[in-house]
Amino acid sequence: MGTHIFMTVGSLCVDSMLDFPGALAHPPPMIIAIDGTLASGKGTLARRISARYGLPHMDTGRLYRATAVSALRRGTDFGDSDAMAEVARRLDLGSFDEADLRTPEAGQAASKAAAIPAVRSALLELQRTFASQPGGAVLDGRDIGTVICPDADVKLWIDADVRIRAERRLTEYLAAGQDWTFEQVVAQLDERDARDRNRLTAPMAQATDAVLIDTGPLTIDEAVERASAVIDEVRVRRET
Ligand code: C5P
Repeated sequence: MGTHIFMTVGSLCVDSMLDFPGALAHPPPMIIAIDGTLASGKGTLARRISARYGLPHMDTGRLYRATAVSALRRGTDFGDSDAMAEVARRLDLGSFDEADLRTPEAGQAASKAAAIPAVRSALLELQRTFASQPGGAVLDGRDIGTVICPDADVKLWIDADVRIRAERRLTEYLAAGQDWTFEQVVAQLDERDARDRNRLTAPMAQATDAVLIDTGPLTIDEAVERASAVIDEVRVRRET
C-alpha cells in the first residue's frame, strides 16, 4: 500500500500516492508537463504518473471547467472578459461537485472560457505556483509545455486518431446514461480541438521538445510504461 499525501495549494487539495518501491527519499525536483488532445488519455496517464513518481498532480482543465461552470451559474456574460477573469480569480475549487465539472456542456463552455486571454492570465500564477513545489509536480493540460512550464524537465504530447478517441469518450457517455451517437462525439472532439488549437492566446500545441505518445494502439498500462521510460531516461541523465 502506498502513502497518501494531501497537499493544499491555494484552495486546491491534491492527493498524491507514493507507491513505487524505488522512490528516492529526496529526488531532485521534476516538473512533468503532459499536454494533448481531448480524450487522448492524458488525464489518466497524468494520474498514474503522479502516483508512480510520488508527485502532486494538477488537472489544469479543471480550472477552466470550474471557471466556466461558475460563470454559467452566475449568468456572467462570456463576452465580458473582465467579468470572466474575475470569476477565474475568485474560484473556490473545493466547492464544485465533480460530476458537474465533467459534463460535455461544461467541457464545451470551458473551451470557450479558455479562449479568453484575461481568463488564462488569471489562472497562470496558480499553475506556476503548483509546478514550483520543492519536489516538482505533474501538470496536464493544453499549454503546460509551451506556456505554463516551458522549462519542464519532461514534456509529453499525448494524442490518438480522433475516431479512437471518440470511441473511448462514447463508451464513457453511454456508461453515464447519456444518449450520444459515435458521429456526434467525433464532431464534438473535432470542434473543441479546433477551438483549442486555433485560439490566439496559448493555443493547444505540441512543444518542439515534447515526446509524442500515440495512445491509439496502446493500453493505459502500455502508455504509462512508455511515459515512464521517457521520465526515467531524464532522471538518470540528471543524476549522473
Ligand atoms: O482537459 P479538459 O477537457 O478538462 O479541458 C477543458 C478545456 O479547458 C479544454 O478544452 C481547453 O479549452 C481548456 N484548457 C486549456 N488549457 C489547459 C487545460 C485545459 O485551454 N492547460
